[in-house]
Amino acid sequence: MKANIVLLPGDGIGPEIVLQGQRVLDAIATKFNHQFTYQSCLIGGIAIDQTGDPLPQPTIDACLASDAVLLGAVGGPKWDDPSAKTRPEVGLLKIRKELGLFANLRPIQTFPELVGASPLRREIIEGTDILFFRELTGGIYFGPSGRETIDGVEHAMATMVYSVPEVERVVRLAAEAARGRDGRLTSVDKANVLEPSRLWRQVAERVVREEFPDVKYDVVLVDAMAMHLISRPKDFDVVVTSNMFGDILTDEASMLPGSLGMLPSASIGADGPGLYEPIHGSAPDIAGKGIANPLATILACAMLLRHSLKLEDEAAAIEAAVRKVLAAGHRTPDIAAGEASIGTEAMGDEVLKVLA
Ligand code: NAI
Ligand code: MG
Repeated sequence: MKANIVLLPGDGIGPEIVLQGQRVLDAIATKFNHQFTYQSCLIGGIAIDQTGDPLPQPTIDACLASDAVLLGAVGGPKWDDPSAKTRPEVGLLKIRKELGLFANLRPIQTFPELVGASPLRREIIEGTDILFFRELTGGIYFGPSGRETIDGVEHAMATMVYSVPEVERVVRLAAEAARGRDGRLTSVDKANVLEPSRLWRQVAERVVREEFPDVKYDVVLVDAMAMHLISRPKDFDVVVTSNMFGDILTDEASMLPGSLGMLPSASIGADGPGLYEPIHGSAPDIAGKGIANPLATILACAMLLRHSLKLEDEAAAIEAAVRKVLAAGHRTPDIAAGEASIGTEAMGDEVLKVLA
């Protein structure tokens, strides 16, 4: 197949890791006979430096016309000046909005070779394989908010709002994903207290009952889920939840594997291109040193192939290659735990060798 992929390297280690992602995509194209073309565009701090805008219009246009977008990371101390007119992160929030990306997917997988990196015990986390769906464009982060002084006392408020279609569309995506995995879906809410959560639970139950009767479905309250994630993470397959709960739970869950440099994420919408990126930031402390771990970005490429291009075999080939490289003992410094390590490009080379 032919696909047009936009690369948004961004700042810090972004360009180093996106380059390795592109090399892996190229290897897949060769191996499976596809034609991928790339267009590199500006976002974040580098875009501010060159154009004054963290998300210039040509970047938006290129993304909208593409099949998928691969992002490195944005931001860094250079752009942290509080008096600055704009910030790199503004570009990130804006591109998600422009592309209508309402679902954020975060797979949380422990790699058998790296379980020592987790703060949790091996027997608890080994075999964990969860796919989170966090609703990304609704809920309390986007509801009416503001400040008001009542009787001389300052108040602040943010409002949690969800509509039926907003819940339906993200639950559908999650249930579909469950079908392709272990067939289990957990919806997380706070229906004992919050009205939008009661709506969420009602809608999620109906969507699954009517459209996905084959999916095994349960609900868990968010506070209980915070405990279960640490005590029995292996019990979950696909988890779907609202924006704020997902924000917190996915960060908690990312600590299970214990290695930031290994975890990818995807943001997808109804149709149009998805956005794929590592969950880590621009790591300014190691930028330019050639030691950043490219595996999160390479695994984000696998998600890109799976979710935007529907190339499951190709995605699985990348994931298998990464596991093989780890099994062979190759480590970047962040996952080396004091043992010998290799750099960003050498790690990319190892993945390419397995794919070839
Ligand atoms: P960070 O994720 O960039 O770095 C945290 C620590 O993990 C650092 O010690 C870093 O060296 C290490 N690390 C991260 N990714 C790594 C990799 N691939 N290989 C090896 N080590 C890695 O988070 P931090 O330091 O809080 O933020 C740095 C900048 O990144 C900030 O400007 C922040 O706003 C931005 N950021 C951007 C994100 C994005 O573009 N999606 C997400 C998170 C932060
Ligand atoms: Mg967060």
